[in-house]
Amino acid sequence: MDVLQLPDRLEALARPTAQRIEQAKVLHPAFYTDQTYVQLERERIFGMNWFAAAHVHELSKPGDVKVVEVGTKSIILTRDKNHKLHAFYNTCRHRGARVCSTNASGCKQLVCPYHWWAYRLDGSLKSTPPAAVPKERKEELGLLRVPGLETFAGIIFLNQTPNPTPLRDSLGDLPAKLQRYDLDDMEMHAQKTYDIAGDWKLICENFVDFYHIDAVHPALSRFSRVDDHLPYQGGGQYVGFVTSPLTDCGGPGDSDKFNAFGRLRPIESNSALFFHIFPNVSVTIYPHSVYTLLTLPSKTQGRTEEQLTLLMAPGARREEVSQDEHMERCNALMDFVTNINDEDVVAIENLQVGLTNLDSQGMHGEFLPKYDWPVHRFQNMVLSGLRGTRIDEDVMPKLPDSFERKVLAG
Ligand code: FES
Ligand SMILES: [Fe+2]
Repeated sequence: MDVLQLPDRLEALARPTAQRIEQAKVLHPAFYTDQTYVQLERERIFGMNWFAAAHVHELSKPGDVKVVEVGTKSIILTRDKNHKLHAFYNTCRHRGARVCSTNASGCKQLVCPYHWWAYRLDGSLKSTPPAAVPKERKEELGLLRVPGLETFAGIIFLNQTPNPTPLRDSLGDLPAKLQRYDLDDMEMHAQKTYDIAGDWKLICENFVDFYHIDAVHPALSRFSRVDDHLPYQGGGQYVGFVTSPLTDCGGPGDSDKFNAFGRLRPIESNSALFFHIFPNVSVTIYPHSVYTLLTLPSKTQGRTEEQLTLLMAPGARREEVSQDEHMERCNALMDFVTNINDEDVVAIENLQVGLTNLDSQGMHGEFLPKYDWPVHRFQNMVLSGLRGTRIDEDVMPKLPDSFERKVLAG
């Protein structure tokens, strides 16, 4: 991979973070507040890497259409009549108008609102009413395709680079860690969208920051203690840790409320896994359910759309429980995770305000290696992403692997 340069000011500001954690400083506030930096980041991180765009479940049926805004780019996801998924730039081939403005289902075609050029869901141009267009021209004038589309863990990932390397090349050992979780077969229960006054990176960092649990989530901290979080980290463009063993607390996520994934090893059936897949999707995996936080940076610095999705393991409904009761249990679980996320949003927006204050003072924050290794890892993925490379594992700390060894022991 060619290593890309950063502008001089950013190069100097990046250097203190791209060190071993014992010497490293927290990523400089300019990376969260500087408008000139934003453009570079959107081009390099979201323009040159695989990023998460949606759940496969959001496009489960032929005719489903979803519009995804990422930075200044608008992208249309479709599922065509042959059940194939597609991603196109949301720009008409006539004069360039935006073709779709909202999500839809049951669509037969995509019609541009300006002069009614119509496209099939596979992107090909169908008609240019009232004029007839020769067939050869129609074949050339389909919607422009986003070069890379792959799915992993029930999530649609896109890549805007021509001929991208396969997604799995960047995931390292993560697919192996998830092999007994049937993430492609989950049932989506509910989604909630947030508009957050914070940079997308702060949302990702907040997810991997288990150190804030006591201060931000007092109710959660009673059964998810900071020191019960163990690394579950191999090589790859992700951050991973677990809480194990899980303790039932009389809450909506207790183990007796739902059936677990069917093929888990005993220790997996009693652990919660947390993975942030770089750059923009965080996945929490309980033995019976999964919730994800998918962040998409907006055009504006410091504003991010976040989508929280709760999915249930296949067959999560217990045999003795009616469908209505099962739905109530799922709703209670959704309330539980959204309440925690609401607390996180307050913390993230407060952090954005603090960083905006700090920027002019040219100050870096400090890491506590025991708790901040996931944030350090994420920030180094950001820096390597800006350089067009992957994380340098040699600079990352050697982490305890006691959980991994227990999983491998069966
Ligand atoms: S710009 Fe789309 S039909 Fe004219
Ligand atoms: Fe939190």
